[in-house]
Amino acid sequence: MRLMLVLAISAAGLTAAGIAPREYQERRAELRRSLDGVMVLFGAEDPDDLHTSFFQESNFLYLSGWREPGAVMLLTQQTEILFLPARDLRMELYTGRRLDPSDPDAPKLAGFDRVMPKTALQSAFLGVIETARRVYTIPGDVRGQKLKSLAVFHDEADAAQVIARLRMVKSPAEIELIAKATDATVAAHLAGWKKTRPGVWEYEIAAIMTNAYFERGCERNAYAPIVGSGPNSVILHYAANHRRLDSGESVVADVGAECSDYATDITRTVPAGGKFTPRQRELYEIVLGAQKAAIAAIRPGMRLRADGPSLHQIAYDYINTHSHDLHGQPLGKYFVHGLGHYVGLDVHDPGDPSAPLKAGTVITIEPGIYIPEENIGIRIEDIVVVTQDGAKVLSAALPREIADIEKLVGK
Ligand code: GLY
Repeated sequence: MRLMLVLAISAAGLTAAGIAPREYQERRAELRRSLDGVMVLFGAEDPDDLHTSFFQESNFLYLSGWREPGAVMLLTQQTEILFLPARDLRMELYTGRRLDPSDPDAPKLAGFDRVMPKTALQSAFLGVIETARRVYTIPGDVRGQKLKSLAVFHDEADAAQVIARLRMVKSPAEIELIAKATDATVAAHLAGWKKTRPGVWEYEIAAIMTNAYFERGCERNAYAPIVGSGPNSVILHYAANHRRLDSGESVVADVGAECSDYATDITRTVPAGGKFTPRQRELYEIVLGAQKAAIAAIRPGMRLRADGPSLHQIAYDYINTHSHDLHGQPLGKYFVHGLGHYVGLDVHDPGDPSAPLKAGTVITIEPGIYIPEENIGIRIEDIVVVTQDGAKVLSAALPREIADIEKLVGK
């Protein structure tokens, strides 16, 4: 009976699919080696409305793979403890069975040296701060602040910043999961292109796209799908998706899946009627040229955005030195957002854009031009992994040349 229970809990997937339990232990071990204090991380609580499902806090997930609500993690150089809430049999009618912190198999199931009831958190914290100088918590998390207030003479330090240093460089397993989300998203864009034609609603295209990656086993959207046609194509995060496509318009589709907890992020701009207008074509070629120039410059040591040479500057300069707006002005001012961001467990994964890139970093490269006066927005976004000597475009299977796109849209 006990064995059956253990198997049932494991099968329910207490830790994240796709990353081996050992990798979580290694991540914590690496973090703990450099820890000059105590780190306390609070996992997400059960959502108290029916709109959202449980979504583990991503730093917590990164270090534990733990996917039950209400957990707390305490880390020092010497120890690691996972604190779990007591079971609530009434609530389990709604949520299903949860792990009992006093279950002797709990450490094995959770992959932690020790698992304790959450009621023991405060006394364990007071025990470890005696020999610690600093308390690391996530800024803004009131639960961490409350615990820190018990250690008034200790320095406060930012746990998110320390964890971000690890999260910025992906392991081979993480890159594989981002590639899986990317492949499913490439299929989604291709499915969306087939459906794209004048008269179709933006939400219909979004539905076809998201369905394509859900069918491939992805669990969630990495962000709210953006399908913006004509005037909506200039709105960066337009996610209402409730307009009908008209001929002669361009359509920005910025849609990406999350599979096994890892996100991707891909954007293409396609012609609603299957053929770009001459002006759309001109602007598209400029954005594509900027993207190619930036990707060609990626290598370890290069920076996404910084004073001095950066990928952003390369893309901006390209856009600003090609063509003009209707008033004869350069186009740089219409590139109104950053060139890219880190991607991982979060679509906007933590990472310093001014830090030198390292091999294993995964970023987007997404230049854009948005001209409201012309109702034209063009964005081309690919997801790339920085390699030892350059970059590998994980989303390379999705065409971005005009001739290839025009062959596929509406067909
Ligand atoms: N793809 C949405 C964003 O990066 O903001």
